[in-house]
Amino acid sequence: MVVAVIGANGGIGRRLLPRLDDAGHQPIGIVRSEDQFDEVRDRGGEPRHGDLEGTFAPALDGADAVVFTAGAGGSTGWDKTILVDLWGAKRAVDACEERGIDRFIMISSRGAGDPESRQGPLKPYIVAKHFADRALQRSSLDETILRPTRLTDEAGTGHVASYFDADPGSGDDVPRADVAQAVVECLNNEATLGHAITLYGGDTPTAEALRTTA
Ligand SMILES: NC(=O)c1ccc[n+]([C@@H]2O[C@H](COP(=O)([O-])OP(=O)(O)OC[C@H]3O[C@@H](n4cnc5c(N)ncnc54)[C@H](OP(=O)(O)O)[C@@H]3O)[C@@H](O)[C@H]2O)c1
Repeated sequence: MVVAVIGANGGIGRRLLPRLDDAGHQPIGIVRSEDQFDEVRDRGGEPRHGDLEGTFAPALDGADAVVFTAGAGGSTGWDKTILVDLWGAKRAVDACEERGIDRFIMISSRGAGDPESRQGPLKPYIVAKHFADRALQRSSLDETILRPTRLTDEAGTGHVASYFDADPGSGDDVPRADVAQAVVECLNNEATLGHAITLYGGDTPTAEALRTTA
């Protein structure tokens, strides 16, 4: 499968490209700076330029599936949260519909299903993720939404704790590497279609954790 990764040089994206390559997929790594092209190539991806705030959709040409793992990050303002995490994601969904790319995996966030359950300084980000997810859920695409809790750069464990269409309020942080592996497992797993899956660090082998139990 040709899999376009939006946010290919981010924490999850960097870990995802080689995993896709190892699994026999053809990853396209979409980045907004050509300075990152060599790094994308080194990780097994075909680099393409795409800026979620600018020209973006042509970078998806030829893809069978799209993974959205971009984000404005915590050091920018809420304006960028709206423009990248919310509107950028919506534009990506629209571009997939226009191009007939059916499969879309969204890296969302724990709590995005119900922003009222979350108070505190991150609430605007959670609201942005909520509406990005809703745009995908209301589209014609075959979606899987992964909602990880706080991400770490620890080594992957090959295990997670998953909750289909549920959002328990506490659990262990999850390594970015394990979220990247969960994306790979979802691509060929129809049981994840149409679900929003909360991910924590856990003890269940990732493939097993992504078989629906709901
Ligand atoms: N941090 C957490 O604890 C946490 C928890 C739950 C969910 N998440 C979500 O998980 C996902 C991945 O997180 P991460 O920490 O691995 O990400 P990250 O390292 O912050 O990487 C995000 C990537 O998005 C790219 N990006 C930003 N603006 C862009 C634009 N306008 N056009 C194209 N690309 C753009 C960045 O590109 P540059 O390299 O050019 O800056 C960067 O490579 C994000 O969606 C995040 O919201 C994070």
